[in-house]
Amino acid sequence: MNSILTKPLSALKYRDTGVLDETRFEKIHVEVFSNPEIASATVANEIADLIRMKQEKRELCILGLATGASPISVYKELVLKHQQEGLSFKNVVTFNLDEYYPMNKESTHSYHYFMHLHLFNHVDIKSENINIPSGTVPIKDVHAYCSGYDAKIDSYGGLDFQLLGIGRTGHIGFNEPGSHQKSFTRIVTLDHLTKADASSDFQGIENVPSKAITMGVRTIMKAKRIVLLAWGTKKAGIIQKSVEGEKTSQTPATFLQDHSNTTTISDGEAAAHLRRFQTPWLVGQVNWSESAIREAYIKTYE
Ligand code: F6R
Repeated sequence: MNSILTKPLSALKYRDTGVLDETRFEKIHVEVFSNPEIASATVANEIADLIRMKQEKRELCILGLATGASPISVYKELVLKHQQEGLSFKNVVTFNLDEYYPMNKESTHSYHYFMHLHLFNHVDIKSENINIPSGTVPIKDVHAYCSGYDAKIDSYGGLDFQLLGIGRTGHIGFNEPGSHQKSFTRIVTLDHLTKADASSDFQGIENVPSKAITMGVRTIMKAKRIVLLAWGTKKAGIIQKSVEGEKTSQTPATFLQDHSNTTTISDGEAAAHLRRFQTPWLVGQVNWSESAIREAYIKTYE
């Protein structure tokens, strides 16, 4: 018998405890972990395995990377693997998702600075293999620069692996609501909510750049493997919308529903609004204990 059937609703456990997930309604594969540290270690293992597999074949490993709070623990794990297990990044080529515009790379607010602080300064990646959109390209050259960024990714045969976070607007990269499914790398205007979320880093929303250069939705979707990270209650609403909602450019992350090799890696808080946790009786069978009946009644009528 499926172990979920024998447990009260509140005792449904996450994947790393070995309990089978019920995933009806979910249009993107979601794995839920009990905390971001265990989840990040799992993602770092996948990336390290990919790098090593490519090394054995004497091939380059093309990684698409994200900034923001979500991937920091993954980068920390990768640095540890370099320091303690000798994982080499000599065959790794990276393309970052985005950069604020305008932005000097020396600025502590730049994604250039962020990536060096959290990853590149601590591993043996070749500097010529690091690609981060430039925040200093003259505006008249931005269009050609962005086409060149996409062409460079293509010239390596595309991204083997793309790491993503998700904004509360549903953005992936900085593809804000309204972004076209077929969009490529381009300059975009940031949503007010995105600027508000970044305001503490910039000591006030008025200091957050209004624009950014971002890989497009299509650029991201061309990656062979995509892993989207989501931690904390702040992401619960947008994860539910992206995973269970209808595909719409109003929530660009819903476009990932069309990608055949995407996994959302989440902690319990970010996954909490998924129906398998909110209303598990709509997803699979449950053990209708007295407390489960009470929980279902409250959720139905609250
Ligand atoms: C960053 C990026 C963004 C972030 C997103 C989530 O390169 O492209 O899409 O991933 O805004 O940010 P955090 O992780 O700070 O919640």
